[in-house]
Amino acid sequence: MLEAVEIFEMGPRDGLQNEKRLIPAGEKIALVDLLSQAGFRRIEVTSFVSPKWVPQMADAAEVMAGINRVPGISYAVLTPNMKGYEGAKAARASEVAIFASASEGFSKANLNATIAESLERLAPVAEAAAADGIPVRGYVSVVTDCPFDGPTPPANVARVVAALRDMGCYEISLGDTIGQGRPETIDAMLAAVLEEMPAGQLAGHYHDTAGRALQNIDASLARGLRVFDAAVGGLGGCPYAPGAQGNVATELVAHHLDQRGYQTGLDRSVIEQAAQMARAMRG
Ligand code: HMG
Ligand code: MG
Repeated sequence: MLEAVEIFEMGPRDGLQNEKRLIPAGEKIALVDLLSQAGFRRIEVTSFVSPKWVPQMADAAEVMAGINRVPGISYAVLTPNMKGYEGAKAARASEVAIFASASEGFSKANLNATIAESLERLAPVAEAAAADGIPVRGYVSVVTDCPFDGPTPPANVARVVAALRDMGCYEISLGDTIGQGRPETIDAMLAAVLEEMPAGQLAGHYHDTAGRALQNIDASLARGLRVFDAAVGGLGGCPYAPGAQGNVATELVAHHLDQRGYQTGLDRSVIEQAAQMARAMRG
């Protein structure tokens, strides 16, 4: 039997959050509904963040209300604070994601808070979700390189991973936000993080700015990771990370894993259609 590797689809959220053209909710809903036919177990649909910060995600509630939910698929959303959590809960998100930074520079730019302040703000979200029985995933951004502070020391990533683990995150996704990681720096980062959390509870979230995401996935597979975030069409970037480009493309990762003898369970023709749809949404 082939070994399974899961791709967590990010296109509707990480892929579209940075688009200049305000994409109508109906187009986003159509993309999510198509992705629901591709075999993903988890799809990140949108984020309940401040619309002043990320105008593209201002229609989060409308998108969540409009999608056709397929039983067995988890429809995930980002929540930076309690206000976001309340929105996510009202929208019946299957799971929520809380996100923090491994560098102070990016924390300030993306969350208007120090790392410590952001963790304080996230703790009540994790508590409320636990009380409501909603699973919480964690993200750590800029795990190898920060556009403001330069190279990120692996120990700083491990510290934030430990904090999110202690809040009860069932999985933590490691973000190479600006896609400047290399197999060596990813490996060094993972060595530190694995002291805090087992490989089975970690995911790689690699942007493909420098074209090294697949190599970084290989380095992570070698460390035992079996979940990778990706976005159809390779769209996206973070509005608060200068130079960040898209998540690695789902279709590239699916092909790469297939070549390496891993099973993703995805329907490649549906993925290709979704990639085309996502690219066409681009302004
Ligand atoms: P702030 O300005 O310090 O917050 O932003 P505030 O509490 O002063 O609120 C400002 C205004 O936003 C207020 O409205 C709030 O009500 C409203 P006003 O009173 O002025 O009319 N507000 C909200 N509205 C809706 N939903 C909310 C919400 N919160 C406040 N949840 C804040 C702090 C955290 C809110 C802001 O910095 C923010 O929303 N940041 C999110 C930025 C973001 O979404 N970045 C992209 C996602 S992260 C990412 O892409 C990285 C990742 O992919 C991994 C990787 O690649 O590394 C995950
Ligand atoms: Mg990202």
